[in-house]
Amino acid sequence: MNGKHIFAAYLQDQIGNDLTWEQIEASIEKPKQIQHGDLAFPCFQLAKTFKKSPNEIAKTIAQGNISGEFEKIEAVGSYVNVFLNKKAEAQSLLTQILKEKDAYANHRFGHGKTILLDLSSPNIAKPFSMGHLRSTVIGSSIAAISEKCGYQTVKINYIGDWGTQFGKLISAYLKWGEENKVRNNPIEELTKLYVRFHEEAEKDPSLNDEGRMWFKKLEDHDPKAKELWIWFKEVSLEAFQKIYELLDVQFDSYNGEAFFNDKMDASLKALQEMNLLELSEGAQVVRVGDDLPPCLIKKTDGATLYATRDITAALYRKNTYDFDEAFYVVGHEQSLHFEQVKRVLRKLGHDWADNMHHVPFGLILQNGKKMSTRKGKTVLLETVILEAVKLAEQNIRSKNPELHEIATVARQVGVGAVIFHDLKNEKGNDVEFSLEMMLKFEGDTGPYVQYTAARIQTLLNRGNFTGSVPLEFSIGSESWEILSVLSEFPEVVELAFHRKEPSIISKYVLKLSHKFNHYYAHVKILDSKETPERLALCAAVQIVLKEGLRLLGVQTPNKM
Ligand code: ARG
Repeated sequence: MNGKHIFAAYLQDQIGNDLTWEQIEASIEKPKQIQHGDLAFPCFQLAKTFKKSPNEIAKTIAQGNISGEFEKIEAVGSYVNVFLNKKAEAQSLLTQILKEKDAYANHRFGHGKTILLDLSSPNIAKPFSMGHLRSTVIGSSIAAISEKCGYQTVKINYIGDWGTQFGKLISAYLKWGEENKVRNNPIEELTKLYVRFHEEAEKDPSLNDEGRMWFKKLEDHDPKAKELWIWFKEVSLEAFQKIYELLDVQFDSYNGEAFFNDKMDASLKALQEMNLLELSEGAQVVRVGDDLPPCLIKKTDGATLYATRDITAALYRKNTYDFDEAFYVVGHEQSLHFEQVKRVLRKLGHDWADNMHHVPFGLILQNGKKMSTRKGKTVLLETVILEAVKLAEQNIRSKNPELHEIATVARQVGVGAVIFHDLKNEKGNDVEFSLEMMLKFEGDTGPYVQYTAARIQTLLNRGNFTGSVPLEFSIGSESWEILSVLSEFPEVVELAFHRKEPSIISKYVLKLSHKFNHYYAHVKILDSKETPERLALCAAVQIVLKEGLRLLGVQTPNKM
């Protein structure tokens, strides 16, 4: 809010140089109760230098000359409270939002810096899991928030496309697989083959040797093994792509685990040269401190491991993208792994490993239990999302049967509901998955926020809003509350960035929607003397709602 600057300038005048401008701005608060004014400044911190009680200091500060900048300034206890000039505030804030549009609340502090995100990263030949969905939507949102703060981002989908399981899968396919079936339903068929392999191997353990042999062949570039592996990968990526298209997410790179196969020798050599490798029960390990188990680098049979690939990937990424910070958006259960990887990199002398962070998140539950996209027979995530779209369409039809382009809107609403539901609570919490709950038009849902924005569009159309901000405002308490929430958006974006917490944005758009719907119910917006200024306020709310939803990866239909 402009008023914050004016207040800070006033305080600086009164206090002198005992506090810097930044310190003053940082200590200005927003009173919880509206009768305590719009902004408040606590005086405790000045008691030492001024050798007076905070209450006396507050009194002195409140006695300055305010000449129309504020409506009122007063000392309450050890606080200086100020009531802003509402008309001037409204004018300047609405002008700013309507002019800047979706660039409102953009920051520059990330300018010239690069953030790398490791996100989504499903495993080929397996269903795309709920965990991968969370990683995808949380990671994409953190990327969008970072970009709004000025950062350049690199989004990497670190596909799980290497490991002994592919030896087993090749072996299973050669025994029981049918090309056509796999072509038509790749993920389901490949999963079935994999499951069957395990079942049969229980009866006949020699199958395991066969699986190992095929993985060895794959590592040795055997043409047959390689051909099948490439095919499995292609059909898997095609299936994943359908989900990414539904969610409308993009990546800058799909370099997965296999990409690093030919780059691992260099990391092994570096570990050797620095004498970091130790033999432990036949395997090569790096000790990473007494509080953690050693990091496994190479198995007894010479095969490299998940950690070896992640260490190599980090080195490659630092070289390629020179990131300032890297975030691994991966479930809680991999915390130990990422800590080990970081420590090995530090032992190699790479201080930048301190700028790598694991961003963990909770589980998706159904009826309190971990939700699996695979129960008995495979239920694919794509099916779950399409189900949400179908339900959204039914809801919309019953509310608004005449709506054009219902399919597009249903998609925006269904997909938006799934994403919003995921991002609504702090990412560390578990999420209960319920299509019925997430698709409600009332309550704390994505469709509720989308509906609020669409409702505003209808108002703007009906009122022929021109986009200009009127010069005169008569600010009532309802509109003042909305303005005050609108003015918080820049801080909200910054906080969401620092905490890597999309839910800060979701909670904010919910709050703005609640305030707006309250306003809508109490104030006559159209056909009133005040219509132009009220429509300007509506338009500003819509801009901020849309932009907030965009940061979450949720689209806003114009009508619904
Ligand atoms: N593919 C892994 C899994 O599904 C996640 C990979 C996470 N990223 C990483 N750099 N290790 O569990």
